[in-house]
Amino acid sequence: MKVTVCGAAGGIGQALSLLLKTQLPAGSELSLYDVAPVVPGVAVDLSHIPTDVKVAGFGADDLAAALSGADIVIIPAGMPRKPGMDRADLFAVNAGIIKTLAEGIVANCPKALVGVITNPVNGTVPIVAEVFKKAGTYEANRVFGVTTLDVIRSETFIAELKGLSTSDVKVPVIGGHSGTTILPLLSQVEGVEFSQEEIDALTPRIQNAGTEVVMAKAGGGSATLSMGAAAARFCMSLVKGLQGEADVVDYAYVQGNTGDAEYFAQPVRLGKNGVEEYLSYGTLSAYEENAKNEMLATLNADIKEGVDFIA
Ligand code: LMR
Repeated sequence: MKVTVCGAAGGIGQALSLLLKTQLPAGSELSLYDVAPVVPGVAVDLSHIPTDVKVAGFGADDLAAALSGADIVIIPAGMPRKPGMDRADLFAVNAGIIKTLAEGIVANCPKALVGVITNPVNGTVPIVAEVFKKAGTYEANRVFGVTTLDVIRSETFIAELKGLSTSDVKVPVIGGHSGTTILPLLSQVEGVEFSQEEIDALTPRIQNAGTEVVMAKAGGGSATLSMGAAAARFCMSLVKGLQGEADVVDYAYVQGNTGDAEYFAQPVRLGKNGVEEYLSYGTLSAYEENAKNEMLATLNADIKEGVDFIA
């Protein structure tokens, strides 16, 4: 198993790489790519941790070597937002970065499963897909926007609110990855009832949790540690699927089959080819149905921006 992290020297990349060094199966290769000159040092640092995962660092000129033969590529590369910015404000600076990396994947590991973290995810995932389409290598089942942070935040906030263990709380989150496009399905949290007041408070808290971190970091960036944990969890789901483990189900932003928007976060069954089966997100409450319908215009505009960037 070769996993490449593009943007491995940044805040998310380092946290993610640390977790992968300790969680990937023995015999795996962890390939760290970054344009920041510190990346070989990050690789040496991680290589001193005693696990059977080989780490190598690759700088700006070595994208091909970093990606060559990768089974999975996770991309946190790009600029984070500052207080007062929306994720959409990052499009201008991050779109070109994601395009370059997608072109590198086409050239060096076109069969890899690709997990995109770079914001705005609603628009960067379509950029990757369009680059792959142009090259004739696109397979929708291999391209994912990582929305796991919305899921783990939901688990955490609900466990806190209801006095439960986080391991007992499972929360479906559908839609996209920004503001109101993030839609937690509180009506489907098993064994937990919410009052309307709780739903009215929890839904926007989950939707604005990224901004909560941006404000708390006060100009120092956005979520890195929780995003690293979320991305590692999603990457390990991809690994389990590739290894043929049965019944690996996760939520991700994909070009799926919900019919809501061209790209939409939904549950997927993972396997040796990425998505093996697109699963239904089930029945929504009236509140969730309304919230979904109201956010679709925003999500569609975000998607169009990504598609148009390549067209
Ligand atoms: C998050 O959800 O924390 C990330 O997407 C970063 C951000 O800008 O909010």
